Amino acid sequence: MTTDELDKRQAIIDACRRMNALGINQGTSGNISLRHGDGLLITPTSVPYDVMTPDQIVFMAMDGSHAPGQKPSSEWRFHLDILKARADVNAVVHAHPTYCTILAIMGMDIPPVHYMIAAAGGDSIRCAPYATFGTADLSGHAVRALVDRLACLLDHHGMIAIGATLDKAMWLAVEVETLARQYHGCLQIGKPPLLSSAEIERVRQRMAGYGMSEG
Ligand code: 13P
Repeated sequence: MTTDELDKRQAIIDACRRMNALGINQGTSGNISLRHGDGLLITPTSVPYDVMTPDQIVFMAMDGSHAPGQKPSSEWRFHLDILKARADVNAVVHAHPTYCTILAIMGMDIPPVHYMIAAAGGDSIRCAPYATFGTADLSGHAVRALVDRLACLLDHHGMIAIGATLDKAMWLAVEVETLARQYHGCLQIGKPPLLSSAEIERVRQRMAGYGMSEG
């Protein structure tokens, strides 16, 4: 194994542990993948992050195949399909953050309640329709909800954040949970006023200059 591959495997494990330390995930319910060579590296299924070791991270080819005996995340389909569909993306982070999941249970998109929504690529964060975890149906819904976006919610499930690097995808995952929490808070008071799509587009262009560029 090259040093580059080992570093990527360790970076995935570190990011998993960070998800739980930051409170955006519980137990082993999340999963992370990173593009590597002509395939991807992905977390194993149901291994607690504090005992996960680099050799347990699964290398998966773009046809979904992997070494026998290895057990990729049950959500490998959407990780693979997102990386196939999106040349701009190298990292996929999936978690069940509490406020994202509350909105997802209600089947709600996150509208432009705060200008930071632009960091997710547009004037909304869509909620993909429900399908059973690990299925091709769920993967199709997720890929569609992510068109022109870097994050989406999954109905009755959780959230996906994607990015050009693992650090960017992780940063966005935390930001999306913050937006979900803010929107949830606003809904306790009433119907929040929204920013216009034109304003979100202006913010998007400004962010690119500011170094908060997408991806
Ligand atoms: P894994 O432990 O298989 O990655 O899956 C948990 C999960 O998030 C299902 O949505």
